Amino acid sequence: MRLKAIVILASLIVLCSFMTQRLQGDCLNLPSTPYNYSNIIFPSDIVNNLSEMDNMPANNRTTDEGATLGRVLFYDVELSKNRKISCASCHQQQFAFTDTARFSVGFDGQLTHRNSMSLAHARFQKDSAFFWDNRARTLEIQTLMPIQSNVEMGLTLDTLVARVTAKSYYAPLFRAAFGSTTVTSLRISQALAQFIRSMNTFGSRYRIGVNTTNGNPSIVPLVNLTAEENLGKDLFMDERRGNCQACHTRNIFVPQGSKNIGLDLVYADNGVGAAFNISRKNGEFSVPSLINVVMTAPYMHDGRYKTLEQVVNFYSDSIKPHPNLDGFLREILPGTIDPNNNTCDTCPPRIIRYTETEKRALVAFLRTMTDTLLTTDARWSDPFCTPSSNPQLEPILGWGIYPSPLKREATLTIKLIAGQSFPAGISIYSSEGRLLFHRNYSMRAGSNFMSVPNLFHTTGTYLVQVTRGSKPVGAKQLLVID
Ligand code: HEC
Ligand code: HEC
Repeated sequence: MRLKAIVILASLIVLCSFMTQRLQGDCLNLPSTPYNYSNIIFPSDIVNNLSEMDNMPANNRTTDEGATLGRVLFYDVELSKNRKISCASCHQQQFAFTDTARFSVGFDGQLTHRNSMSLAHARFQKDSAFFWDNRARTLEIQTLMPIQSNVEMGLTLDTLVARVTAKSYYAPLFRAAFGSTTVTSLRISQALAQFIRSMNTFGSRYRIGVNTTNGNPSIVPLVNLTAEENLGKDLFMDERRGNCQACHTRNIFVPQGSKNIGLDLVYADNGVGAAFNISRKNGEFSVPSLINVVMTAPYMHDGRYKTLEQVVNFYSDSIKPHPNLDGFLREILPGTIDPNNNTCDTCPPRIIRYTETEKRALVAFLRTMTDTLLTTDARWSDPFCTPSSNPQLEPILGWGIYPSPLKREATLTIKLIAGQSFPAGISIYSSEGRLLFHRNYSMRAGSNFMSVPNLFHTTGTYLVQVTRGSKPVGAKQLLVID
């Protein structure tokens, strides 16, 4: 018995010294047992279609250790030429892994040619390839492309391997993920792909509604949605009005192929047509996932629309008669029973002309696709202790929200420990992503306390975000109970 205790103690000491050794130099804040990335419980409609939708290849199954390595790589500025840009610079967790800028700034100050894309549910983009123009066939191929891009990160694969090999924290991570410490660009691409494939959450109000509905969610009202949101859902599903579901398909709205939606008569960027040199695909772009769409502004491949209201106005009455405009967005031939099966590829664009009530309902429905687990869970957060990819975080040494969980009638207090004085903002969002509260504060070095008036009228989760100036520097989830 005593011997057993000694053995356990000894192995604990070995484990601890291994952990501190690994944390020397560049500081990583990783859990001693990896987070769960591989054993995800999927809703039944996903499970039933898994073989058809899943793009996880047999030679790169997601493991907790592989995705952990991917997480570190994703947040590591060593992957860019001037050590200032990581994947997360343009795919920021708090914005559902997109960028709030219309075009993102790369390592050399140059701008990307398109708007950054959300990464949620990339695992289930089976029929379509990656990027707005579908030019990367698999995630494993895709993940090495931004690293080598002259605009985004600017490394050659040889430099990439040398950079990663030189960082001592990678050896144990590679051993855990792949069985040996050898660094190759293939392994880097595989680990990054595993991390991105793990980004699945099913907690949006729309999803919860679908999970608890008996029958077809397209036609029955969802009990957890308001009348306005259900009206928006009906329009979204209505083949003769919105027909949004024809392209933004399945209950997680994963991208399905590419389509021309008539944004312009002549496109400045021809998307899929230009990438594959096929003129009848000019103006086609990947159909984006709408999960967390409130957080992924601006919208479209070129970020031309700042708000969802502008997107809905476009679909309502501004679709242009581009020769490649998809049949789903054209007028329906008289006598057509199912417009989805009998599209007219020569008809003029549909002019839906939503009423103001309908426009508000569609936007309200799009907001029900918000899932703050993806945007706040530690599994997908920055693992570096000194947030190297986020220098503006440095003046904030720590913050907490009290009490958490919060009782509905209690006052919320936010404590912020700052290393220096600076203007900070506190924003509180509802679980659907609606801004409920915002106030600016001037922080002093040391501890600062802020009280937030009681605005938590419904139980559930809220998001508390801190900004420095206008830049978000951190977010936490707050649970409100009765
Ligand atoms: C400088 C900004 C920037 C950086 C850095 C960056 N990306 Fe991107 N990412 C973009 C933009 C912009 C697009 C869309 C580009 C296009 O379609 O041509 C994109 C698209 C993607 C897509 C396609 C998603 C889809 O649904 O098709 C994936 C996956 C992705 N990036 C992963 C990564 C990874 C992994 C890294 C780090 C190795 C990374 N990105 C670094 C800006 C960036
Ligand atoms: C014919 C297929 C099709 C139909 C029908 C369709 N969409 Fe889209 N949607 C797309 C494509 C493709 C894009 C990206 C286009 C681009 O960037 O050029 C897009 C983009 C969007 C975006 C921007 C997302 C982002 O992250 O940038 C939103 C929001 C959206 N659609 C909502 C809707 C709504 C609401 C409807 C119904 C009124 C609808 N869509 C109908 C194919 C379609």
